[in-house]
Amino acid sequence: MDTNTPLEHIDDWEDDLVKRYPEPFKKQKEDYRNYNDSPRDDLVRNFYKINHQNQTYEFVIAKQNEYFNLDKRKMSPWDALDYLNTLVDDSDPDIELDQLQHLLQTAEAIRQDGHPDWFILTGLLHDLGKVLCLYGEPQWAVVGDTYPVGCKFSDKIVYSEFFAENPDFSDQRYNTKFGVYYENCGLENVKMSWGHDEYLYHVLKDYLPKPALYIIRYHSFYAQHREEAYAHLMNEEDHKNFEWVKKFNPYDLYSKVPIPPDAKNLRPYYENLIDKYLPKELLF
Ligand SMILES: [Fe+2]
Ligand SMILES: [Fe+2]
Repeated sequence: MDTNTPLEHIDDWEDDLVKRYPEPFKKQKEDYRNYNDSPRDDLVRNFYKINHQNQTYEFVIAKQNEYFNLDKRKMSPWDALDYLNTLVDDSDPDIELDQLQHLLQTAEAIRQDGHPDWFILTGLLHDLGKVLCLYGEPQWAVVGDTYPVGCKFSDKIVYSEFFAENPDFSDQRYNTKFGVYYENCGLENVKMSWGHDEYLYHVLKDYLPKPALYIIRYHSFYAQHREEAYAHLMNEEDHKNFEWVKKFNPYDLYSKVPIPPDAKNLRPYYENLIDKYLPKELLF
């Protein structure tokens, strides 16, 4: 197996999240795509093993240096969505929803509940950072749960036992409760494991309201928004904005239904919304 692509499909970890955090009051197996569990479980496990071994403080700094200049591509927001959609499923294309469909379903579910327009737009954009895959980044540096690096890895992180093989685990600079940080220093000052959340945050940070940026930057940070394991690094502003991250999470996890949204009909509404908040072209 190639360590760059331990998962058959990039969204397998999200399907696994629905198993970890089933929708309350719903029998998940009936509502969501069923599959032969154990082989995929092994792939997800192996995916996290590689992720946890490799996401070090130094690795994150190297990725930030590589991407924060935003000199990879220049695209209109909708072209970026189309570009992301070239990331197609090669395992079973008949069943999987493509990337744009997941984004539209998330946004539409938010819209149906009467939320503010920036929240709807956040639903549409939140996974755009997965274009990292198209730049050749390995899956473990694009998707999967994110967590702080530079301090002790919480045992609330999924498959935390695999951190024993991460060099930072036995590095005294990085393996104490606060590591390179200090109490309630604010997440702004905390480096997160590298993936699509942090990257997209940097692409969009000048354009969206703060709660939207929190959603984009921390939606995969399950160890906090679901498990509350890193409150000691957060400040008041973080706590306030995490209410939105928590509000967003069910739309991300539970809006996946097998009926594809009508992208063509929805497009004018979303083009308008994009125009309201974003420039004609975005730097990636
Ligand atoms: Fe995501
Ligand atoms: Fe998502």
